[in-house]
Amino acid sequence: MQSIHQRPHARSSQRWSWWPLLPTFPYGKRQSRFTELITGQAWAVEQLHGIWYVAVPIRMTILKLDQGGLLLYSPLAPTQEVIEFICQLEQSYGHVKTIILASSSGLEHKIFLPALARAFPAADLWISPQQWSFPLDLPLAWLGFPRSRTHILFQDGLPHSEEIDWLPLGPLNLGLGTFLEVACYHRSSNALLITDALVSIPQQPPTLFDLNPNPLLFHARDSGSEPLLDTPLQRLKGWQRIVLFANYLRPHSLQVRGFLPLVNDFLKAQERRAINHFGFYPFIWPSGWISEVEDFFTAVPLPIRIAPVLERLVFVRARDSFVKWLRDLSSLAEEFALIPAHYDAPVLISSLNLEQLAESIETCHWAPDDGSWQILAKIDDLLLRYGLVPASPTTPEN
Ligand SMILES: [Fe+2]
Repeated sequence: MQSIHQRPHARSSQRWSWWPLLPTFPYGKRQSRFTELITGQAWAVEQLHGIWYVAVPIRMTILKLDQGGLLLYSPLAPTQEVIEFICQLEQSYGHVKTIILASSSGLEHKIFLPALARAFPAADLWISPQQWSFPLDLPLAWLGFPRSRTHILFQDGLPHSEEIDWLPLGPLNLGLGTFLEVACYHRSSNALLITDALVSIPQQPPTLFDLNPNPLLFHARDSGSEPLLDTPLQRLKGWQRIVLFANYLRPHSLQVRGFLPLVNDFLKAQERRAINHFGFYPFIWPSGWISEVEDFFTAVPLPIRIAPVLERLVFVRARDSFVKWLRDLSSLAEEFALIPAHYDAPVLISSLNLEQLAESIETCHWAPDDGSWQILAKIDDLLLRYGLVPASPTTPEN
């Protein structure tokens, strides 16, 4: 992977005015990093994305089509600097022909599609079937998807099928809506583009945080009164804690400060700025947290994994569907440059790696209830008990 030299951009070119639609970090200022993932064939635009500084990389992939032109997979906030970068690629490789929203449930991806579509008005939009919105399930046109050029994958055909294989994962009935994700395998580059289903989570903080290390430094502290110190060790500590939050929602080792100790700590803060949330930090990390991190990274001895939150809350009763999809992917080629929409990319894997993952999922204690998984298990139990999720997510709805 090669970073592309970026001119210093004006702050205005990183502005994202639509942030109130999904008020997540980094809100109205989205810095981007541009990389070449596969020489002359695939590029990435990466931004940070998260809730309350639990930020992880989110990525849009730009693929050069064999027939000429570009395909954008997994929309991202099209700030001015993002549009300029894609326009530069268009000068060498042709216009953006196709924009793909390959997830029916990932709000953090679909929220950017309308603005991206407006930025490239000649592109066709292809979206995964069974899109939905919450709390009201609105028609696509009301969500800002342009009716005249929006097509539904499989239902309306498949774009560029002479050079791309499309493999659906799902549909799974989530109760409120549907999980369905479509993998995109580009034969000539071996790029395997996916959205959320597989990830490669690095042990070291992603270099994307060089653009803004504050999320790492914020969570590296043990109290709100500590200043944000930028050292390699603090960045690592912050990343390890973010990994636990992002994957288990509430890590098992985490404790929440009581009201009076929290107020006491808050009053001791010397620095009160937005970047340290004015001295507010309610968490306590007892010494066991580091072994929870080690357990997380050693649990899967492969370069790829399914994120625990997806395993425990989406595929908990649909393991077979996931395994089948892995085997379908593994039959496509011997080697892949896997490019997920989160964390590391590209991840060079073989079909054997996909088969090994399928086998390990078949033989492991799937979607456990204990240790780090306790909060995820409790959420699932509650949803199931109140009938908000079905016991058989693979059974078609009537
Ligand atoms: Fe996602």
